[in-house]
Amino acid sequence: MIQAFIFDLDGVITDTADLHFRAWKKCAGKLGIDIDLTFNERLKGVDRIGSLERILEFGGKSNHYSLEEKLKIAEDKNDYYKKLILDVNPKDILPGIHSLLVEIKRGGYKIGLASASKNAPTIIKSLEIDEFFDAKADPSTIANSKPAPDIFLQAASILEVEPTECIGIEDASAGIESIKKAGMFAVGVGDPEYLKEADYLVNSTEELTLENMLKAWNLK
Ligand code: BG6
Ligand code: MG
Repeated sequence: MIQAFIFDLDGVITDTADLHFRAWKKCAGKLGIDIDLTFNERLKGVDRIGSLERILEFGGKSNHYSLEEKLKIAEDKNDYYKKLILDVNPKDILPGIHSLLVEIKRGGYKIGLASASKNAPTIIKSLEIDEFFDAKADPSTIANSKPAPDIFLQAASILEVEPTECIGIEDASAGIESIKKAGMFAVGVGDPEYLKEADYLVNSTEELTLENMLKAWNLK
């Protein structure tokens, strides 16, 4: 039986995936690297320093910077990103997500958060949905970030449920891989081209309902 739903944040609950992209595009530009939305699919779900490594590799500059310099670039990106999220408010919750959270709670299921973002707690508060979450995994305590299963496993462990009793919801290829490796049922939201491995896929958050997800899980 399903006991819990574990959500990614950026790109699933709110459209901060676009703000991460804008911040990285600006920082990459300063390094002489031009990134586009297609490349950005490879950054989704990946942690801060991991994202920078991918950008440098893409620009053929993997060995151009010391660790100290890389940490500084990552800090600059985060400073810019933090400015971009200052205005985040409940209107930024993606369509259908608030009613879905209500529906899941009413159904008696637990709700967890498995975001790679260290800014996630701030955003959840700005969206005024903190009360829905029974557990929030802490990415700063995770040994291996997505696509490793660690963050989803930590959320399940705090919720005191087995991974097989969880449905994970993600917009990123790395996130779907993380859910699958954790042994959970993976729901993907977004472009089928990048989310082929999902057990159940919808195009947009509006199509996510408790009934659809449970039906898909039952069929599996
Ligand atoms: C993920 C995003 O949720 O969090 C990534 O999809 C981001 O794009 C990662 O790099 C880390 O976020 P932060 O806020 O800790 O830099
Ligand atoms: Mg995401």
